[in-house]
Amino acid sequence: MIKLLTVIGARPQIIKAAAISRAVRDSFSDKIQEKILHTGQHYDANMSQVFFDELGIPTPDYNLGVGSGSHGAQTAKMIEGIEQVLCSEHFDGIILYGDTNSTLAGAVAAAKLHVPVFHIEAGLRSFNMSMPEEQNRIVCDHLSSILFAPTQTAVDNLAAEGLIFSKATFLNGKGREVIKSGDVMYDNALYFSKLAQDKSTILDDCGVETGNYILATVHRDFNTDDPVRIGNIFKALSLIAEEDQIPVILPLHPRTRKYLPAQFSNKIKLIPPASFFDILTLEKNAKIVMTDSGGVQKEAFFFSRPCVILRPETEWVEILKHKAGVLSDANTDRIMDACRTLSCSEVVFPPLFGDGKAATKILKGILDYVDS
Ligand code: UD1
Repeated sequence: MIKLLTVIGARPQIIKAAAISRAVRDSFSDKIQEKILHTGQHYDANMSQVFFDELGIPTPDYNLGVGSGSHGAQTAKMIEGIEQVLCSEHFDGIILYGDTNSTLAGAVAAAKLHVPVFHIEAGLRSFNMSMPEEQNRIVCDHLSSILFAPTQTAVDNLAAEGLIFSKATFLNGKGREVIKSGDVMYDNALYFSKLAQDKSTILDDCGVETGNYILATVHRDFNTDDPVRIGNIFKALSLIAEEDQIPVILPLHPRTRKYLPAQFSNKIKLIPPASFFDILTLEKNAKIVMTDSGGVQKEAFFFSRPCVILRPETEWVEILKHKAGVLSDANTDRIMDACRTLSCSEVVFPPLFGDGKAATKILKGILDYVDS
């Protein structure tokens, strides 16, 4: 039996962790014991607890209750707390997800204590070094013993950085491994979307019909904290909603709530952050999705929905390559053009993100590594 510590903190990590916890429970309970540490980066009930309840994730064994703060203060508290846990009991490895400050903190704390780091969603790059997420994922990748890359593009990015066939060694002289695993978010989308369709009442609650609304989400700091950019986005959403007489459903991240523009169309319906079942239902049934979230871009693709990407670049370049998404940045004209282009184009959505069994592949990879 091996023991792993999973670190989560922000909303998307809680969701991703559901796929691994489910696979441990269903297929590896005799070989793997998982303990969960929640840093407390996201703490509002509708940013955190709702996902545990809905997705059947075990209650965290540890909760650091770190909360908000500057990047340095928030990350420092997390490193200290994770270090204490790693020193208090033996773990054969730490599982980290994505690119948040919780990911960075877990990588730094574990690597210094020679606890093997297993990074899920490795190799993603926007090449925009001013994004905190880009900084976090690069550091985490370089400190990781196994890099679980969701796509071929991610594998190629790791190769370009010398992370494949590198000379780096970790505890006991073990080298680094790169495994193309597929995407645990695709596992989750397949598993939960049927449940969501049956259980979610969000379309009725919002008073919208399948195919006849736009779903929008905005939470990136470079969009929300800049009045010009957030203003441009809301202006575009307002114009599209008015001209096309189509409602825009916008679940509001707490960060965005603080920086809302003073005026926008009343066809933009702001709702509280959505539960996972609700967001899946909203994504699956939208005419178009408009977002600056990496996860929402991908889920739109899983459900064959076209996506306007409210960023200057994206890590998920496959979506652009297949013309299922268009980069619009926070430019009003480009957002409107992208929306028009996608509304009238025929797009195909090939299975680029694995076969829905990424979690099993990841756990097998970890077991082989620890046992080797
Ligand atoms: C974080 C991640 C981002 C991820 C996103 C998902 C980093 C650097 N960024 O961004 O990669 O896509 O989570 O949501 O880790 N707040 C609340 N209640 C909460 C959580 C946050 O009010 O439950 C407010 C706080 O005022 C906080 C702000 O939102 O300062 C931003 O939260 P933070 O965790 O710093 O980053 P996110 O923007 O959520």
